Amino acid sequence: MRRPRRNRTSEAIRNLTQETQLSINDFILPLFLLEGKNKKSEVESMPGIFRLSEDLILKEIEACLKLGIQGFDVFPVVDEKYKDKRATKSYDPNFFYLKSLTKIKKEFPEALVITDVAMDPYSSNGHDGIVEDGKILNDETLDILGQMALAQAETGIDMIGPSDMMDFRVGYLRSLMDKQGFVNTGIMSYTAKYASAFYEPFREVMDSAPKMGDKKTYQMNPANSNEALLEAELDYAEGADILMVKPALAYLDIIYRLKSTFNIPIAAYNVSGEYAMIKAAEQKGWLDADRVMMESLLSIKRAGANMILTYFAKEATKHLHRMQ
Ligand code: PBG
Repeated sequence: MRRPRRNRTSEAIRNLTQETQLSINDFILPLFLLEGKNKKSEVESMPGIFRLSEDLILKEIEACLKLGIQGFDVFPVVDEKYKDKRATKSYDPNFFYLKSLTKIKKEFPEALVITDVAMDPYSSNGHDGIVEDGKILNDETLDILGQMALAQAETGIDMIGPSDMMDFRVGYLRSLMDKQGFVNTGIMSYTAKYASAFYEPFREVMDSAPKMGDKKTYQMNPANSNEALLEAELDYAEGADILMVKPALAYLDIIYRLKSTFNIPIAAYNVSGEYAMIKAAEQKGWLDADRVMMESLLSIKRAGANMILTYFAKEATKHLHRMQ
């Protein structure tokens, strides 16, 4: 007679039989960079998450490295006055984002710094690609993404994160970077990025919501799973180093399918809306946020993610330290 409860009778046997472990090595912290000095503003819908200017982001990275967090995904918060239809600021070497990336890598060469490749933070219409007559132009956008990626690679960052969902961009960026000598700059591709309602708080942070239409002609339909495999096949063939699924919690099946099919690391992006929901419930006293956070992150890992981009990175790391 098999009694599965036997393996649950004590803390010790539960620990010994635990199949998945979260580790400090699992987390990448997304950071929001502001232009200027000594600037800090909390994101209303993401309590505990701040937009920070370069001086403060350097301090934040230093504190995170001390905690044991090694990966950072830096996003620029771009003032409206810099935005235009072709995202020209995204590859201007004098733009604050690129200058700060250089500074970050200089001060903390040991930190793994990831950048975002997409037009939306710099685009006056909030789309990830060039818009003409209400349509997103794929191949024309590649040229801008290429210039953006090269400008970022030039700063010494470790990995680019194309989050735009244009076709062919991974192969295009890979060969462009290789030609320019950036053979060791990696690509963490936003492979299965869904047209999701969970990005709302992020768009508030960046003031980057699309001014017209939506992102459904490039981001994936939440109903689709086979299509994620197709996207992954292409990104794999085009040379992506890491395949990402985004969002995470409503897409655990996609993480699982990608992990079972491809022999390269899978990342999951536990996005802004997933963070906001837990924090909002905590403020209402409806959930034990610490436990829900750890359970959510554990489930993403159990589904097959090798790494998790999460706004909880610091809190979860502190939690893991407390448990040691
Ligand atoms: C934009 C981008 C988005 C996120 C990361 N890069 C938003 C979007 O596609 O509209 C969302 C991240 C989050 O919600 O935490 N290319």
